[in-house]
Amino acid sequence: MNHLVAPSILAADFANLQRDIEMINQSSADWVHVDVMDGVFVPNISFGFPVVKAVKKYAQKPLDVHLMIVEPDHYLENFKDAGAAGITVHYEVCPNLHRTIQHIKELGCRAGVALNPHTPVALLEDIIIDLDMVLIMSVNPGFGGQKFIGNTYKKLKDVKALSRRYNPEMLIEVDGGVDEHNAVKLIDAGASVLVAGNSVFSAPDPSAAIAYLKHPSGSSRS
Ligand code: DX5
Ligand code: ZN
Repeated sequence: MNHLVAPSILAADFANLQRDIEMINQSSADWVHVDVMDGVFVPNISFGFPVVKAVKKYAQKPLDVHLMIVEPDHYLENFKDAGAAGITVHYEVCPNLHRTIQHIKELGCRAGVALNPHTPVALLEDIIIDLDMVLIMSVNPGFGGQKFIGNTYKKLKDVKALSRRYNPEMLIEVDGGVDEHNAVKLIDAGASVLVAGNSVFSAPDPSAAIAYLKHPSGSSRS
């Protein structure tokens, strides 16, 4: 399967969000990655519903909403109403994960589960059949621009093996420190969705950076 690219607007210029979203619209990006942080699950606060709605107003690509918040069940409908096409919750904050996943699906959204760097992939064995996507965090969640954690390759291979066994259609997203240097290796390890914040928005030509991630040289995958 051809991989997808999801630029993270956490690294966009919030004073020029419309401009940056229009850049994404014109680019070869597949989704817009939207990072919601609550200052409780992660030591940072990003933005909430009004900003997601504003992004949705201009975005022509599906919103891939990554919830780094505790008790996400309370807010799933709000994010659906704000324009989410997919909602990803963190394994670490969902004591009734199966129920949460069913709820996301009932809302008509793609259901994802994210794993922090320390959370073992094996914990997904009894839920993976219900998932549309697994998000492997390749940094500790909370901030853009952090250093990529090398153990991610092993985790991607592990989740790919589980996926082959139980749910071959499931997407595998990788998030944090993704750039032009590791893209091919991440795809080879099993990633089917690349999230990229700083490597896109700090590039001299963000649209070209997205195009590169979509068609990394040396890769037969496009
Ligand atoms: C981190 C977020 C990421 C972040 C990635 O907590 O989940 O989506 O925006 O940013 P970069 O690509 O700069 O590491
Ligand atoms: Zn994210």
